[in-house]
Amino acid sequence: MNLLIKNIGELFDGSRIIKNTCIYIEDGIIKSIGKKEKADEIIDAEKKFVMPGFVDCHTHTVFAGYREFEIEWKIEGLSYQEIARRGGGIKYTVEETKKASKERLKKESKERIKEMITHGTTTLEIKSGYGLDEKNEIKILEVINELKKEEKIDIVPTFLAHAIPEDMTADEYVEYIIEEILPKASKLAKFCDVFCEKGYFDIKQSMKILREAKKYGMDVRIHADEFSCMGCSKLAAEIGAVSADHLLMAGEEEIKEMAKKKVIATLLPAVPFVLNTNYPNARKMLQNGLEIALATDFNPNCYITNMQFIIQLSCYKMRMKPLEALRSSTLISAKSLKMNNIGSIQEGKQADLIIMDIPSYLFIPYKVGTNLVRMVIKRGEIIYQSE
Ligand code: NIG
Ligand code: FE
Repeated sequence: MNLLIKNIGELFDGSRIIKNTCIYIEDGIIKSIGKKEKADEIIDAEKKFVMPGFVDCHTHTVFAGYREFEIEWKIEGLSYQEIARRGGGIKYTVEETKKASKERLKKESKERIKEMITHGTTTLEIKSGYGLDEKNEIKILEVINELKKEEKIDIVPTFLAHAIPEDMTADEYVEYIIEEILPKASKLAKFCDVFCEKGYFDIKQSMKILREAKKYGMDVRIHADEFSCMGCSKLAAEIGAVSADHLLMAGEEEIKEMAKKKVIATLLPAVPFVLNTNYPNARKMLQNGLEIALATDFNPNCYITNMQFIIQLSCYKMRMKPLEALRSSTLISAKSLKMNNIGSIQEGKQADLIIMDIPSYLFIPYKVGTNLVRMVIKRGEIIYQSE
């Protein structure tokens, strides 16, 4: 099968803007840019803006137990930790997820993924972490792997050590993860992630889990310096993590350490948006040469499926320039997942792209609150089209 997308007004290829061009695709792979080849199928982009599909590299898509009831507590000013103490938070979702069958988890996740695709996401990382015990963590990872087989977009599974179960100490649970969960989880997940935070896993415990994961050949990423600066981003540098995520509290020292070791900073601005806290210092990170990936962190605390909104928050709240934000949500996001076949529109790459209903990339941060996606193409196939 071959396909020509003609009449592109403006193209973002992952790094630069190219005006008035076309893309020729064969068997799901980009063959040329700017050459009007003969094709069986032609899509007229009608002078609109085209870009790579969004790579949402940090989500918790598989769970049961919505937390809409936390909204009023958030408005009252309760913190994430206070909400957890009142019976909300991760533990609430863990209880609901444990009760849910694989079928239910899969069905609800598919609805969420459909919403993501509608908004232009073509690659999605999904973490476990709402099961805690072996049976339920593996249940979630199996669901993620089934979604990976059945869905049209690329899905990347991650095992996440997320919280300490009530009937164990943190040290006991770390042993349990190493003995009981990791041997199986390592067969079902590409990455291992740890929520390194006060009241969750400390530096030593995180290090122990991640070292063990590395022995299985897993790559590691860390939820780091989100609510407190415990030095988790330094741990990320020390252990060779691909990415350190959140980083709301990371200071200059942490940023420099990460830059030295080329750890990607994955920023999730929807979280400070829903929790009404501070945003990470993206400008300082860029000044220090850090590469930034952007993601939704879709989870029951932060129900956001739309990467366009992440770009808007990045521009207005973190002072990222529109082109920086676009690159961070495509090419760098893909890099953080160690996927070099996606994230940009170049010869030889997988044909994952979006046609937007706007003439220029600047309209993405400009037109807030509406879905700008006209068509989503995955491996050269149309998987979503607006009416
Ligand atoms: O990345 N910070 C820890 N984990 C998730 C939130 C999980 C939850 O609140 O259910 C996050 O934001
Ligand atoms: Fe997260």
